[in-house]
Formats: sequence, C-alpha cells, structure tokens
Amino acid sequence: MTAQRVCVSDFEEEAKKVLPKAVYDYYRSGADDQNTLTDNVAAFDRWYLIPRVLRNVSTVDLSVCVLGEKLSMPICVAATAMQRMAHPDGETAVAKACQAVGTGMMLSSWATSTIEEVMAAMTTTTGKEGVLWLQLYIYKDRDLTLSLVHRAEEAGYKAIFVTVDTPYLGRRRNDVRNHFKLPQHLSLSNFSTASLTFSEESYGNDSGLSVYVAKSIDSSLCWEDITWLKTHTRLPVIVKGVLNGDDAAKAVSYGVDGILVSNHGARQLDGVPATLDVLDEVVKAVQGACDVYMDGGVRRGTDVLKALALGAKAVFIGRPVLWGLSCQGEQGVVEVLELLKQELQLAMALSGCRSVSEVTKSLVRRVEFISKI
Ligand SMILES: Cc1cc2nc3c(=O)[nH]c(=O)nc-3n(C[C@H](O)[C@H](O)[C@H](O)COP(=O)(O)O)c2cc1C
Repeated sequence: MTAQRVCVSDFEEEAKKVLPKAVYDYYRSGADDQNTLTDNVAAFDRWYLIPRVLRNVSTVDLSVCVLGEKLSMPICVAATAMQRMAHPDGETAVAKACQAVGTGMMLSSWATSTIEEVMAAMTTTTGKEGVLWLQLYIYKDRDLTLSLVHRAEEAGYKAIFVTVDTPYLGRRRNDVRNHFKLPQHLSLSNFSTASLTFSEESYGNDSGLSVYVAKSIDSSLCWEDITWLKTHTRLPVIVKGVLNGDDAAKAVSYGVDGILVSNHGARQLDGVPATLDVLDEVVKAVQGACDVYMDGGVRRGTDVLKALALGAKAVFIGRPVLWGLSCQGEQGVVEVLELLKQELQLAMALSGCRSVSEVTKSLVRRVEFISKI
C-alpha cells in the first residue's frame, strides 16, 4: 500500500520511485552546482509571517483575477516540458486537473501533446473553455514561432508567456551524464520534422535538449523582439524570466501585460538569487503598471502567502505538478493542487486574512530583522 501523501515532498518521494532515473533527473535538476535550486526553496524560510488575530476568519476567499480570468486560487501551473514522460496522459491530464480545481495552466512550447488537444481536454462538456496560456520559445524560424502563437489564438488560449531566460540551455549535469533525450514513442507534438520534434537518433555525448536548443532557439533575442511579438498577436504578452528591477522597468516600457519573476526553476544560470528575494525589487520597479507573478520553490501554502505579501498577484508551480502527475495522473495533479489550496486557505485564516486583497506586506518580516529585536 502506498503511504498517505500529506505534503508536496511526499509526492516527490513517490514520483522518484516510479519514474525512470533519466526522467526524474530531468524533472528534478537545476543548473551546475544547483545552489539556486536549493535557495529557491530556502528563501521562503528567510521570511516570518506576522499574523493578525480576532478578525473573523470563518470564511476565506482565495479567488483572484489573473489576466482577466477569475481563478479559484492564486496558484497556477507553470510550463513544464514533456509531461507524457511522467504519465501517458501528460499535458491533457494536467489540463483536466486545472479545470477541475478552477485554475489556469501554462502549456510549454515543448509539450508532448498539441496545443489543440490540450484545449479540448480542458473544455467541459457544456463547451466552457479552460484557462490556458501558451509558453513561447522564440525559434530561429520566426514563421514557425508565429504559427504556434496563431494556433494558440485560434484554439482559445488567453495569453502568451514568452520565455526570455533561455538563449541557450543551462547546463544540467545529470542530463549531460544521461545523454537526455525523449523516449522513442514521444515527440514534441507541436512540430513536424524530426529535428524540431526532438526525435533525432543521436545528440552525441551531451544533453540532447541542450543540442536541440542551440540548433533551433534564437539566441539573438533582444527587447525589440517583444515589440515584434506584440505586433503579431492580439493576446496579452507576459515576459517570463525577469530577475531585477531594471529589466522589469524596461519590460514595462515595452508595453508588456505582465511580468513573471522566474529563474526557470533554477535550471538556467546557477548563482542567481532565489526568485522570492528579488520579487520586492521587481514589484517596486513596476509601480503597478502591470501584474507581477512569481515562480520557483513554491512547495507550501505558507510559501504562496509570503509571495503574495511581497507583491505577487499569483504564483506558478512547476515540479510539484510533475510529481502529482507521475504518482497518479490527473487525480495526482488534482491532489497536489487541492493540497496547496487547503494549505493556503489555512495559512490565510491563521494570519487573519479573509481574502487575497487583505494580504499585504505587513504580513511578512525578514528573519534577520526579527532576530535583532
Ligand atoms: C522539468 C521542467 C521543465 C520545464 N520546462 C519549461 C519550458 O518548457 N518552458 C519554460 O518557460 N519553463 C520551463 N520550466 C520552468 C518552469 O516553467 C518554472 O519556471 C519552474 O519550474 C518553477 O519552479 P519550481 O519547479 O520550483 O516550481 C521547466 C521546469 C521544469 C522543472
């Protein structure tokens, strides 16, 4: 009998047992020495929660509006590539779970299900579409890039999250050692040729994905490409991968519709700060011009609460969803999302917050500050 799963790390433990080693390594790894990977999680412990009492918390409303869509909670699903390695239903299972829980899903450009399939899975029998956003990698082939954008528009996706931290792939040592590539029965479903579906016979002695990125992703991207993208889509454009106030202000000046503070789950440049530690700087630089979101290391309801207090409109989670998917497909993802939702609800009630609008910066204090008192 499997042990009861009562926190996100229980899901990871079980996922580790069921996944092939190369798949677990790909999902779990960060770049280089993985210092930022550890720090993304540790950063949450550098902030205390300062609860308020006697506030009648008999009802707590977690709902939030993200990019014009009402969600049941400020916890959304981040883009993670190749989800069919975790479970045969892959991205469609995650989409159904998000629909069931009432939250939004960001689909990776490198999904193992098509843009259209995932929207179909997320559309109810009554025809109500789910909240789906497309994560976009800008390819050297710009026509191909725009075809992804236009397919997403056609299918009813609500926004484009353009990833700006991946001109090359970060060096994830386990993937190099494992010569990581997709299992033969899978491919990056939104493309058609072997070189683009990540299905070549051999990628030599390296991480296959790193070879793929060097060959196909545009490393010449610059701010003008945000303007280019915005002129080619009617959907909101959010930049994913901003880590400082200067870039955040620049993004605002280029008219973005949102900023996702992210270090790509610590998979790109090791040695960058934990995302929680730069959130406040970004929020200050943006001055309310657009929404700010964050991802990286969110594993508990109290983590979500701290990120909201520091100015995030909502958080995104990557790996926890993959662990739920590996354990039990759609049901496993529902369990992870419900678990985090319940944890957040309890944390809000115990902090005296009845709605997300009551979560303000006065709810958190840096640990160093408290210890000096
Ligand atoms: C296995 C894996 C695959 C990912 N694939 C993508 C991707 O295709 N595109 C992207 O922009 N980010 C990708 N990310 C980064 C996530 O979108 C997100 O930034 C990160 O996972 C958040 O950190 P967390 O895993 O600690 O929650 C991936 C992350 C992981 C762990």
